[in-house]
Amino acid sequence: MSTDAEILGRDDVNDINAILAITNTEEAEAIHTVKDNAEAIFTWDYEKGKRPALNKLYEKAKHSQWNGETDLDWSTDVDQEEFAKMMMELDKATRAEAGITFEGTPFAKWGDKEWLAASIEGQNWSLSQFMHGEQGALVCTAKIVETVPWIDAKYYAATQVMDEARHVEVFAKYLDTKLNGHYPINAHLRMLLDDIINDSRWDMTYLGMQIMVEGLALAAFGMAYQTTPDPLLRQLLRYVMSDEARHVAFGVLSLKEFYDGLTDAEMLERQEFAFEAAVGMRDRFLQQEVWERMGISVKDAIKVFDVPAEIKNQDPFQQLLFSKIVPNTKKLGLLDANDGWLRKRFDTLGVTQFEDWVDTGEEYEELDEVAKDRAAEAVA
Ligand SMILES: [Fe+2]
Ligand SMILES: [Fe+2]
Repeated sequence: MSTDAEILGRDDVNDINAILAITNTEEAEAIHTVKDNAEAIFTWDYEKGKRPALNKLYEKAKHSQWNGETDLDWSTDVDQEEFAKMMMELDKATRAEAGITFEGTPFAKWGDKEWLAASIEGQNWSLSQFMHGEQGALVCTAKIVETVPWIDAKYYAATQVMDEARHVEVFAKYLDTKLNGHYPINAHLRMLLDDIINDSRWDMTYLGMQIMVEGLALAAFGMAYQTTPDPLLRQLLRYVMSDEARHVAFGVLSLKEFYDGLTDAEMLERQEFAFEAAVGMRDRFLQQEVWERMGISVKDAIKVFDVPAEIKNQDPFQQLLFSKIVPNTKKLGLLDANDGWLRKRFDTLGVTQFEDWVDTGEEYEELDEVAKDRAAEAVA
């Protein structure tokens, strides 16, 4: 059994210095190469529907395709500053509630002008990370088409490749035409994507991407949808989430069968991988690249926001990001295998309370907003 320090590469899960030591050095490079250690697999068993749940998902995906160019109203005027102002006020209130003060820090000199600029950068950063994460999903799902041994799963994964292409496309277009700047991929997100692509075991692509990255994305998109006043971004997120719910369901439905047949030792490897991914995703919430661009030393910036772990782990926004991941890991048996190894880790992150929320293996049909719009149009 590995120690937490071996899994995470640091002794303390909340060690800010160790988290910030990971930076992105490839800003100027146009491509990034990762070694994919997996074997491509053919199957000669073409029986469609052998796995009925996957077959149903595949049929649903064929019907719920949408077109990023024509199904979204790109003529919408987006007032980024108005949204940034709203977020700035929200952040102010949150900081006041947490008792954060700026005396003796580089922020002491900041007025509304600087905070507004930081809020705009924060939006550019978040949307950029959504876009990069989507490309991660595009590459991972193409890998699943190659590596999964079941024909129903290959079929479904092929529809997801198309979905992810559309997601990258619409986030990139939104960034280019409605916001005012891109950010390179966050170092923690890139490391996680690299790890997922590197792994030779086919189920690890699912676990890393469909369960962890997409589980978090589904929750994050939901929160962005609730807060943004921009009707274009709301519609974009609404449609992207319809797809994402299927993607997470694909992970849950595929891995359930496979994990039921694994030994405790094999399950432990998956639990460790899930924990490492959870921590990596949480580390990126620090938005370190935004502070750099604002001319503030990252360490100074983070120190200000570095509330004790007990309090930070109570942050309802941070917790909610895990609201899809936790019930899905429970359904897969990952939460409780090996005497609750992962449950104990999730307890330290303050997220276990979501364990009995609905899992996405069942929820995806309710979230199909594309199908709802089609049905409404047909009636009209
Ligand atoms: Fe996506
Ligand atoms: Fe996805």
